Amino acid sequence: MSTVTESRITQLYAEKFSKSAELYSRATRLFPSGVTHDGRYLKPFPIYADRAVGSRKVTVEGADIIDYWVGHGAMLLGHSHPAVVEAVQKQAPLATHPGACHELELEWGEIVQQLVPSSELTRFTNSGTEATLMAIRVSRIVSDKTKVIKFAGHFGGWHDGLIHAAEPPHDEAYKTPGIPEGHLSDLIIVPPNDLAALEAAIDEHDPACVIHEGNGTRWGTVPARPEFLRGLREVTDRKGVIFILDEVITGFRVHQNSFQGLCGIKPDLTTLAKVLAGGLPGGCLTGRADLMQVLAFDNPLGRKMKHPGTYNANPLSAAAGVAALKIVETGEPSRVSNECAAALRRELNSLFQRKSSRFVAYGDYSAIKIIPDYEGPRSDAEDFIPYEGDWRQIDRKFDGNLNHAYRCALLLGGVDWMGWGGSTSLAHSDADVDQTVSAFDLAIDLLRGDGFDV
Ligand SMILES: Cc1ncc(COP(=O)(O)O)c(C=O)c1O
Repeated sequence: MSTVTESRITQLYAEKFSKSAELYSRATRLFPSGVTHDGRYLKPFPIYADRAVGSRKVTVEGADIIDYWVGHGAMLLGHSHPAVVEAVQKQAPLATHPGACHELELEWGEIVQQLVPSSELTRFTNSGTEATLMAIRVSRIVSDKTKVIKFAGHFGGWHDGLIHAAEPPHDEAYKTPGIPEGHLSDLIIVPPNDLAALEAAIDEHDPACVIHEGNGTRWGTVPARPEFLRGLREVTDRKGVIFILDEVITGFRVHQNSFQGLCGIKPDLTTLAKVLAGGLPGGCLTGRADLMQVLAFDNPLGRKMKHPGTYNANPLSAAAGVAALKIVETGEPSRVSNECAAALRRELNSLFQRKSSRFVAYGDYSAIKIIPDYEGPRSDAEDFIPYEGDWRQIDRKFDGNLNHAYRCALLLGGVDWMGWGGSTSLAHSDADVDQTVSAFDLAIDLLRGDGFDV
């Protein structure tokens, strides 16, 4: 296999994105590895976006690229949706931060309450990470217990309480660097999709809460199906344990009423972000009034949870969020993005079979996941899960060199793919699907030319 520096892909990539290369050399003097989010790190250098509209982003070189990052999942309506742009433009000259209560936060809270089945009371945060941090703290105060149960591979944000075991290796001896022992021992990890293991862990550890990521491991890498969520609700109800559903990605995306609406369940607490704020920063914790009351002054428990946060319910985020959620409410964004992703998964799998490629595509809703070295059974079924759901085989680290080469090869064909997964939006079209399949066709040829066994 060729090294990254001498490969044909790298050579073509450096030619096509030469201005991005120049910007990246400045970036390496400013930021560790030259990036401001780990996921954006790309060898030999990442692309630099100049603007983004609809399903496309345009690089500083003027290359028009179909975008499957969709703002890390936030841009369900596509980039620069006119209703969101107009709402932000209208609000900006009025106040970007009055440091006061404002009417837009009411509209924002009301639409969350209306769309999310379990939403009784809400507090806004700046991100999904803050929302899950808050969910755990609320649970601990109310239950007067400490331990938290999560599922192996589920993300939940990057604070000390949940980042451990958010990705492979799933090795019990592994300790996430920088996380104190106390946090590691307070976090109980159970295998995904395993109700018996969950029940045993609840009995053994007497936790404050169980947190489950929407439709499973990192946006459904190991899918969790509605039946499992219904089982999870039943077990936590029976055991009297607070159930937090982390809908930071699935919220408003998989369905206007979020994953809980699809499953027909009511978690005790729900975390939301991404689509919630229409592409601007924002998150929230919402849920049962008797639990959320712990944030209220003079609450009956007598133990108030502190909740500061300079930018909570920022009016620009509220304006974008309200504008976006009014469109989400129609059901069109989730319907269109789900259908588009299903078509893309289908077309990609037929391409992979035609080319006898080891790639396989799968996923639920608007997610498209790729396994690059797949050896298990294949299927055209919509609900196909690789390796018959064996989570340890699905949730592995794949070849890092291949990952960089593959993303560069796809960019050469005009597609920006997010790691081994991508998401669609309301703006993605049939033409985008066709062009994406052609880009994968080209990428497989380029990768094979560079000596990768794909
Ligand atoms: C399921 C889930 N929870 C929490 C988070 C953290 O959200 P944020 O990046 O807004 O902090 C993410 C982010 O991708 C997520 O996917």
